[in-house]
Amino acid sequence: MPLAVEARALSKTYTHSGKSTVALANVDLAIPTGRVYGLIGRNGAGKTTFVRIGATQLAPTSGTISVLGHDVMTETREVRTHIAAVPQESRPLYFLNVDELVYLYLTIRGMDPRDARRRTNAILDELGLASVRKSLVNHLSGGMRRRAMVAMVLASDAEVLFLDEPTTGLDPLARREVWAAIRRAIGDGRTVLLTTHYLDEAEALSSRLALLEGGQVRLEGSPAEIRDRVRQPYRIVVSGVLGRADLEPYGTVSSVEGGYLVFAKESPARELAQLALSKGAKVSLGPVTLEDIFLQVVGRAIDSDDAGEAEA
Ligand SMILES: Nc1ncnc2c1ncn2[C@@H]1O[C@H](COP(=O)(O)OP(=O)(O)O)[C@@H](O)[C@H]1O
Ligand SMILES: [Mg+2]
Repeated sequence: MPLAVEARALSKTYTHSGKSTVALANVDLAIPTGRVYGLIGRNGAGKTTFVRIGATQLAPTSGTISVLGHDVMTETREVRTHIAAVPQESRPLYFLNVDELVYLYLTIRGMDPRDARRRTNAILDELGLASVRKSLVNHLSGGMRRRAMVAMVLASDAEVLFLDEPTTGLDPLARREVWAAIRRAIGDGRTVLLTTHYLDEAEALSSRLALLEGGQVRLEGSPAEIRDRVRQPYRIVVSGVLGRADLEPYGTVSSVEGGYLVFAKESPARELAQLALSKGAKVSLGPVTLEDIFLQVVGRAIDSDDAGEAEA
């Protein structure tokens, strides 16, 4: 069984009026079939560039990438029959209504009209779009429009789906509907490459994850493997009584609302929790979250806005 997507030494440098930006630098990724693979990273990390190259929309500067064993550059037509993609900046055809958008997309891809009709109806129900099916796509709110694009791709029979930030701007309920639809696609044996900057989403859906930063893969693996690779896998939140200097011997301390957050190895974590309890401080101890890991690896929160480079 070939990999869904396999990138080797994939690099992309954008050059505009004499200015070069390295978006991907020697990325190796092996994305297996039949699962959700999460690509996470801050704005400007290179996620969209990777997706656009995989989805045959953009040529790499060097390196190779294949989809289901077909080289994206030399077997582009073949690759296109196996994939469907929701671009990050999607501007669907404004003169179509939601129903037409999905139905036409499916029939243009070559789906039998009766199947296309059935699948259109089903996906509009699943994604809470039935009530706006006759609305012009252009008249929808941003979140609804995004959902319409996701519907189109999920309803297709493509084996590999590229979803670039499919839930950005959606309300919590709509996000859950998209998650459920993604899980159904996986249940049908398809593969989803998902980019997101919601780490809870990445963790809830992905069987493997890659963390991109500055165009490079900084961590890769299943959520459990990624946890195992973190130097300080426990988080302790302490409020009251103990000060920063009391905590520093146990791990890496940062200030949080109402107290301190300490990342620590297992035995110092236990010792600190006991100390805090014996002094009467409020304390909670648990495994690090993906958000914490991100902070440890990248040194900044995923949504901190000091990216330097704006989103293209
Ligand atoms: N068309 C483009 N022209 C020039 N630079 C670009 C273009 N698209 C993206 N970039 C730059 O490439 C880097 C990676 O961008 P992108 O792949 O969009 O990252 P992400 O999707 O993770 O936010 C950023 O520094 C971005 O500014
Ligand atoms: Mg992007």
